[in-house]
Amino acid sequence: MKSPNSHHTFRAGLLTAMLLAVASTARPADATASLKDAYKDHFMVGTAINRSIATGTGGGRRSRELVEKDMSLVKEQFNQITAENDMKWQLIHPREGADGYDFVPADAFVQFGESHNMYLVGHTLVWHSQTPNWVFAGTNPPPESAVEPAANPPGRPRIGGGFGGARRGYTGPRASREELLERMRDHIHTVVGRYKGRVKSWDVVNEALADGEGTNILRNSLWLQIIGPDFIAKAFAYAHEADPDAILRYNDYGLENPVKRKKLITLIQSLKEQGVPVMAIGSQAHVNVATTFETMDQALTEMEILGLPIHLTELDINTAAGGQRGTGADITANGSATEGGQVTDADQRLSDAYAGIFRAFVKHRDSVPMVTFWGVNDAVSWRRFGTPLLFDGDNRPKPAFDAVIRVATEPAGTPD
Ligand code: XIL
Repeated sequence: MKSPNSHHTFRAGLLTAMLLAVASTARPADATASLKDAYKDHFMVGTAINRSIATGTGGGRRSRELVEKDMSLVKEQFNQITAENDMKWQLIHPREGADGYDFVPADAFVQFGESHNMYLVGHTLVWHSQTPNWVFAGTNPPPESAVEPAANPPGRPRIGGGFGGARRGYTGPRASREELLERMRDHIHTVVGRYKGRVKSWDVVNEALADGEGTNILRNSLWLQIIGPDFIAKAFAYAHEADPDAILRYNDYGLENPVKRKKLITLIQSLKEQGVPVMAIGSQAHVNVATTFETMDQALTEMEILGLPIHLTELDINTAAGGQRGTGADITANGSATEGGQVTDADQRLSDAYAGIFRAFVKHRDSVPMVTFWGVNDAVSWRRFGTPLLFDGDNRPKPAFDAVIRVATEPAGTPD
């Protein structure tokens, strides 16, 4: 136990530090507030981190000094991290065979998180995008419908599946179902096995649901075409074998949209009936400024029917005028939409949208154990033209940050 005196000294030191903060910045309250502390009684607050942050190296648009500031911000604000890219198949397993893995960046990510006591999430094992062509390649002729002119110019590496699914991706001769299942099993056992007990939760299958109003539940990906709909169940079974203690998530976007959400509910209920070890719903929440408390409250209420924890896995709120269309379209079209500059009153609308959805997260805190932002600040965001995060490119808290901090102190579940 500290003596009252040392406690007093500590408090006095803190007071001095706070007064200094008042003197040196215009935003003293923000300088001492952190998302992880503000929400510590509710849920973890995390962020995706890129390779520069995980490895502490500058380059490209961000200098070494700025990367160091990004690293400090991650440590101050967040208690959970997800690798933005480095555990995706294309990056961690670019070539076929046991020596085709590249664990260096993913190891750095795990090391960074462990050295700062952060909860680690692995992203992602089975996805139609950012997966190399060799995974799907074999000796079986592709069906006629799959053959179309090369999507990428000759000489450029082609990534199986592309962002839009099979039709823009690999169209060559294919692996058999057995071959692809074997590759999937090897990949999952190797990657999950390597970080067993350290990476606590995995996005096992990402974005397998179809978009749009059609009756198809599943996206027409190469995984579906080659293996069949049980590719999802198999992926979960392999991941569970590799780390029986890991929390296995099914992750998707657009779940604020009632049509897509209905497909999610159908899929997860079916997996549960089959005894598939799906343990949590990952809701990406790449949303726009029209998203309200009611939208998110409704989405969470309906998803709670499944009886699984709901992780908000990739939160950001697009303020680009071109990114305000509905949530029924493919995420990349929405995510990269930058036409028309910002919406009017972008800061205000961003604050309002963040406040509304955080009120919904707090209301549903019994089923929401973690909320992860998709990036640390606007400069490193995949939607940087949509300035969708709480910190600007110099890591200064935006008005939306204050709004989110304020919600943490309100009585739960009380929208304006
Ligand atoms: C994005 C990354 O942020 C980008 O750096 C990368 O170029 C493309 O992928 N859904 C997902 C994430 O599950 O993996 C995507 O991340 C964003 C959409």
